[in-house]
Amino acid sequence: MDAVNIDDLRKVAKRRLPKAVYEYVAGGSYRELTVARNRADLDRLAFAPNNMVDVRQQNTATTMLGDPAAFPLALAPVGMVGLTWPDGELHAARAAEAAGVPFCLSGFSIASIEDVAAVRKTPFWSQLYMMQQMEVNEHLIARAAAAGCSALVMTLDVHVHSQRWADNRNGLTSPIRVTPGNVIDMMGHLPWIARMVTSKRWTFATMAKEHPQASNVLSLAAWVNANLFAGIDEGTIRWVRAQWPRKFVVKGILTVDDAKRARDLGADAIVVSNHGGRQLDGAPSTISVLPEIARSVGGEIEVLWDGGVLTGFDIVRAMGRGAHGCLSGRAWAYGLAAHGRKGVDRALALLRQELLDCMALTGTQDITKLAPGLVTTEPPL
Ligand SMILES: Cc1cc2nc3c(=O)[nH]c(=O)nc-3n(C[C@H](O)[C@H](O)[C@H](O)COP(=O)(O)O)c2cc1C
Repeated sequence: MDAVNIDDLRKVAKRRLPKAVYEYVAGGSYRELTVARNRADLDRLAFAPNNMVDVRQQNTATTMLGDPAAFPLALAPVGMVGLTWPDGELHAARAAEAAGVPFCLSGFSIASIEDVAAVRKTPFWSQLYMMQQMEVNEHLIARAAAAGCSALVMTLDVHVHSQRWADNRNGLTSPIRVTPGNVIDMMGHLPWIARMVTSKRWTFATMAKEHPQASNVLSLAAWVNANLFAGIDEGTIRWVRAQWPRKFVVKGILTVDDAKRARDLGADAIVVSNHGGRQLDGAPSTISVLPEIARSVGGEIEVLWDGGVLTGFDIVRAMGRGAHGCLSGRAWAYGLAAHGRKGVDRALALLRQELLDCMALTGTQDITKLAPGLVTTEPPL
């Protein structure tokens, strides 16, 4: 494998996946303004290096939610990623464990919570989408607890499924629309088809156990879409917190006000996230709102961050703007789609090496002790 960066993995993923699947992973909602902002605002930051520091010894290790992290990056929940590679979530869960970083399983995963628990020796995190049926939510939370998950990550920013125009064009809708274009495109990706037909898993396995009446993945997808809970408020968050015995994370925070409310409702951590620009188009970039949120609640709860990670330099950027740790979605999903387990290994190795390079070049010995002012907003010309 000759990928020298995450973008190389993306290009291989693009070649290997049917267009509909690739665009599902890569895309954002509506005009994709927020996807672009996430990246553009990261690029606007500048490093102020300390060039008189001995960087022969470097430490990247930290903890995230009390779990050890060989470097401060967790694999973000990515729904349906098992459609890019058979048993995709299992490969990613193993790769994260081997790299010593946390793995968060999506509530809309192809492999189930129990499948992932079976391949892990160490605990992982489980992400929860609230459904309208409280007994389903209760059961999902109990299953995550029984699977030994160390953290429950409650996602707040999917009140409704926003529109990704590429998915609509590609027929990746509920119900799925098969078009002559889809079929011709699929036929151009026979190796992907050959791999996927070997997969035992073709449904949202976690959710399927909650809705046995859904006879197949299409009816299950329709049920899931129709039953997302748009009523999440403080009472709902309090209710989930009360059900869950371990670390509790609220994902999808973009304002100081919501960060404080999450803290007051018992969150141990928040994820400053705009869902990778896949939900509210026009939301601010996550890196732009991070410093103020970290200043307001970072002393009391862990402030995690995601949105736009392409290199290990972005991890330093976010840590320098106040994050306790980062999550990344597309970077590992591209690796998986390109080369299966080896691709996730490669993505994580690239990000870690770039992190080490950036630390050395900025005079940083320890990722948990960044010099104040290391990551600055570029001075105007
Ligand atoms: C294909 C795809 C599926 C996603 N599915 C979920 C999900 O099931 N649950 C969730 O909380 N976030 C989901 N996300 C959002 C990610 O967890 C994360 O917030 C986002 O990907 C971070 O941005 P990045 O992809 O630029 O790293 C998804 C993101 C992508 C790209």
